[in-house]
Amino acid sequence: MSEMSHEYWLKRWSDRKIQFHDEQMHISLERNLEKFIAGRKGIKIFFPLCGKNVDMQILADQGHSVVGVDIAEQAFREFFTDQNLEYTEEPLKNIDGKLFHAMDGRIKLYCMDVFLFNKELEGQFDAIWDRASLVAINVIDRIKYSQLIKQLMSPGCRYIIAAIQYSDKFEGPPFDLSEKDIQDLYSDLSIEEFDELDLSIYFKNRGLDHIIERMYLLQAKTDSDSI
Ligand SMILES: C[S@@+](CC[C@H](N)C(=O)[O-])C[C@H]1O[C@@H](n2cnc3c(N)ncnc32)[C@H](O)[C@@H]1O
Repeated sequence: MSEMSHEYWLKRWSDRKIQFHDEQMHISLERNLEKFIAGRKGIKIFFPLCGKNVDMQILADQGHSVVGVDIAEQAFREFFTDQNLEYTEEPLKNIDGKLFHAMDGRIKLYCMDVFLFNKELEGQFDAIWDRASLVAINVIDRIKYSQLIKQLMSPGCRYIIAAIQYSDKFEGPPFDLSEKDIQDLYSDLSIEEFDELDLSIYFKNRGLDHIIERMYLLQAKTDSDSI
């Protein structure tokens, strides 16, 4: 299986090969928003490998605070331009990276390797939206990634993973992520599958006949889960 470097992603941004980017709110997030927000007001939401995902703006407009991380500075500049937001930028102390901060204060974007992100920077999160993120990192890095996510989850955190699943031979990214893979990575959390989207039409010209995006909600196990 091939491995993707930072340069690979930066080149995809500069070559405009960003087919993963969607101008609309993610359909499944929209129709299952309550699973994610659960009636809470002004929660803190993490977007790992965020790109210029428009869901960040939509959730910030609903009164939540958003923190995103991506290696591509270009994604952030495009995000602020697309969303017509003024922003500040500053180098990070002690870490190789930059912080971009929307002037309205609700969106903070860290331009850095996600594996250098940690709890000291923004504390823990009430919700995590993992779309085109866990499936985009190299398979060899999945355990390291899951350890980071667990460190960032507050006790009541609702963590949604959009898992890409296909059986055809395909190089990726996105890399196939089965329910078993999720169970292996997050055996200490409860895992509920709740929705799926057929993405086959978007991948026809990449030699894939059938590809599904399946949604999972992960959260801390309750006492009844362990009975
Ligand atoms: C497939 S895109 C998905 C972007 C976004 N989640 C979305 O739904 O549009 C993957 C993103 O991860 C970023 N990325 C890849 N490896 C990274 C790393 N090690 N640290 C931070 N960002 C990374 C890339 O720059 C790219 O924007």
